[in-house]
Parts: sequence; structure tokens; C-alpha cells
Amino acid sequence: MPRRSKFIIAANRLPAHRVGDGRASRWVRSPGGLVSAMAPVLAKHTGCWIGWDGAVGRASHANVLDGLTLAPVGLTRGQVDAFYSGFCNGTLWPLYHDAIVTPQFHRAWWEYYRDVNARFAAAILRRAARRAMVWIHDYHLQLVPALLRQTRPDLRIGFFLHIPFPPEELFAWLPWRAAILRGLLGADLVAFQTEASSQNFSRAARRWTNGEGTDREVKIDSHTAHVRPIPISIDAATMESLAREPEVIEMARLIREQLGNRRMILGVDRMDYTKGIHDRLMAFEELLSERRLSVDDTVYVQIAVPSREESLGYREVRREVEERVGRINGQFSEPGSVAVHYFRRSLSHRELAAYYLAADVMLVTPLRDGMNLVAKEYVACRHDLGGVLVLSEFAGAAWELRRALLVNPRDIEAMKAVIIQALRMPTRERRMRMSILRVQVKRHDVFEWADVFLEELGA
Ligand code: G6P
Repeated sequence: MPRRSKFIIAANRLPAHRVGDGRASRWVRSPGGLVSAMAPVLAKHTGCWIGWDGAVGRASHANVLDGLTLAPVGLTRGQVDAFYSGFCNGTLWPLYHDAIVTPQFHRAWWEYYRDVNARFAAAILRRAARRAMVWIHDYHLQLVPALLRQTRPDLRIGFFLHIPFPPEELFAWLPWRAAILRGLLGADLVAFQTEASSQNFSRAARRWTNGEGTDREVKIDSHTAHVRPIPISIDAATMESLAREPEVIEMARLIREQLGNRRMILGVDRMDYTKGIHDRLMAFEELLSERRLSVDDTVYVQIAVPSREESLGYREVRREVEERVGRINGQFSEPGSVAVHYFRRSLSHRELAAYYLAADVMLVTPLRDGMNLVAKEYVACRHDLGGVLVLSEFAGAAWELRRALLVNPRDIEAMKAVIIQALRMPTRERRMRMSILRVQVKRHDVFEWADVFLEELGA
């Protein structure tokens, strides 16, 4: 029997991954604000994190890394295909992101979703001490709250959805909508990135279950689920201090020099059809072909982190993006002045900070996004008050970062105009906007987010 914990986090992914093979392999902590925010809470409560280690087959043994107990859940090949690539990323992900690609509904995938959620619930139950606090993350595990409540009403259960919760009309497509809503309503607290998602959820819950109440409280079977918007953030101080390191500042200078000291536009995204990378490239291409921009003095750098290549729509988005980059470079690049620099790989936080510091304009233009932490990271890094953030109206971050240049990413003319506006923005206005954005991001960091969540949960 594993040691019982007073505080448990469950997420599809563990905050660490294994590097190396066989006996020589070891755990390495993955970068990310969520891990940093949770680390002190987990340490204080001798907590544990339950999640998938990303491997196919048997789970590795539980392990302690930097004081953090990691309890891996193993997924078989069938579960990776039908649960992770299938139901999570082929049904829920597109449905929750405005059906940008058409979600697929397969009964077999749903069976796997139920099974894997039950396995996670069982793993939590094995480890949860009496009256433990359990914090469940994201769309992969929406059935877990109710599964826990059925057997262990003593637990305090919180759920946070990192992606948007869709409007009722879209959510209604889901053949298993009532089961998912009932799953979530098992939590004491169900929290979302925005007010809109929060309302979408409570309305759907009242419509398709026997739950009753308001936008903030849904009562079902003598239990009350509290519903709140609690927008996530980043570890802004750490990101900023990284961007203040002399080596990072030097790296940023070198990047600019290597790009010919041209004005630099930057995009940093997972390679995902929700991110609007292709539309962004189209806007840049049109600006070049209309000669409103020239490769002599402007360059666009796109960093695309490989993602979910086995899931619906991901190979297609990669092909589209790469074809577009090829087309733009074929037509507009000059010797020594490439129009678009495209990197398909992930970068360390240190390298990212250098790119953020180097960029005159940061384009964060997803078609739909729960929050988008890249926007907040960019702001945290710009201690020099340089740089302009262009932000999609459809990113959760737009609810907070009002002084960014907000744009509808499907409106290519508006995108073009905003890129020009950003490049030409007078220094005074740029500095003023960036200072206001920085106050917001520094004040509301990931530690505050975790505190608010735990306070609402009654920790
Ligand atoms: C989004 C989701 C996370 C997920 C991440 C990476 O941010 O909200 O839950 O972990 O994408 O995707 P992946 O499928 O590689 O875990």
C-alpha cells in the first residue's frame, strides 16, 4: 500500500519526464509554471502528483524528485490511441475550441475515456488520506471528481479546466454531455480560465443534468459544486530574472545580429490548429506582397513546438504551415535576408527568454485559447519596456491584458493593420502599454492563482 497523502494533484501528465534508456534512465522535472506553483503546496502537505509518464506500457515506479512524489499511471497502446489521441484530442479538444476542426464522436473512444478516468480515480483513492485535498486538472479527467465523491465523500475535491469550456450550443453535440457534466459536478469547486467558460459550464450543467442553482453554484443530489473563474498565470518573477541575466541579454543581442538587426516579429506556439499560425503567416505574406513590409528591414521568426502528431488535424496543420513558410521564403527571401525563420522544436526557458527580449512584436493570435501563457511570459521578460504584444481577442489572456493590441485573428486585414501599427508604435506609447501589462502580470502570478484556488476550495 503506498503512503497516504493529504494533498494530491492529478493531471494527465506528470510534471517530469524520463530521459535515457533502461536502468540508466532518470526523471527530469519539466519546465512550467504549474509545477513551480504546486511545488511549495505539495512540499508543505507531503503531497503527491499522479499522472501519465508519457510512455506506452507499464508505468514506472513512484519516485521522489526534488521533494515531489511522482506516482505514474501507465497507459497501454490502446489507451494512448483511443483515450489520449482519440477522445481527449480528437473529440474534446476540437469541440472545446469552437470546433475549429470537426470533432469525431466514437463510442469506442468514450469507453476508453471512462476506463482511464476510473483508473486515475482508483490511483487517487489508493493514495488519499482521510479528508485529503485532491486537485484535478484539465479535460482528460472530467469524470474523476464524481468517481471520487461516490466512494469518498470525505475528500475535498477541486477541478481546474485549462482549456475553454464551450458555449452550450457546441457542448450539446457531445453524446456523453450529461455524464461529463455529472463528472465535473462531483467536485466542490469547478474553476475555469474566464467568466465566459464559467458561465457556459453552469448553464450547460443546469440544462442537461438535474442540477439547479446559479452561475456560481450548482446543487445536484444534495451536493453543491461552486463554480468560479480563476485565470491561471506564470511564475513572473522567475521569468523576469531569467530575462535579466547578462547571458540571456547577450543571447538576445546575438539573435538580432544573426537576423541582420532587422525588426523582428515573433510567434511561439505548440504546433496546433487552434494557434492560428497559418493565418498569421498569411497576413505577413500579404504585407510583403503589397510592399507594406520588406525583408530588408523586417523578419518573422516562428517557433513551433511539435505536438500530438498522432491526433486528428495535427499533421495537416504542420503541412499547411510548412507549405506556407516555403512559399513565402521562395518568393520573398533575399541572400542574407530570409523572410521567415521557422524552427520546429522546443526551446529551453532561457532561450525563449532571449527570443522574447529580441522581438519587437510578439504575435499571439490563437483562434481560441484557454489562457495562453506565452503572452504573459513575453510581458514578464520585457523589463526594458520594449516590445509590443499583439493578442487575439479569443485567448483567455485578452480578458486581463487589455493594453495589448487586441485583434480578431480571422480578420486578415485587421491582422495586417495591427502588425503595421505595432511596428510603428511610438516609443512613449509602447513603454506605457508595456508598463501597464507588466503590473497586471507581476501582480497576478501563478502563486496567487494557486492561493485563490485553494482558498475557494476551503484549504
Ligand atoms: C494544453 C493542455 C494541457 C496539455 C498541453 C500539452 O495546454 O491544456 O493539459 O498538457 O496542452 O499537450 P499534451 O497533449 O502534449 O499534454
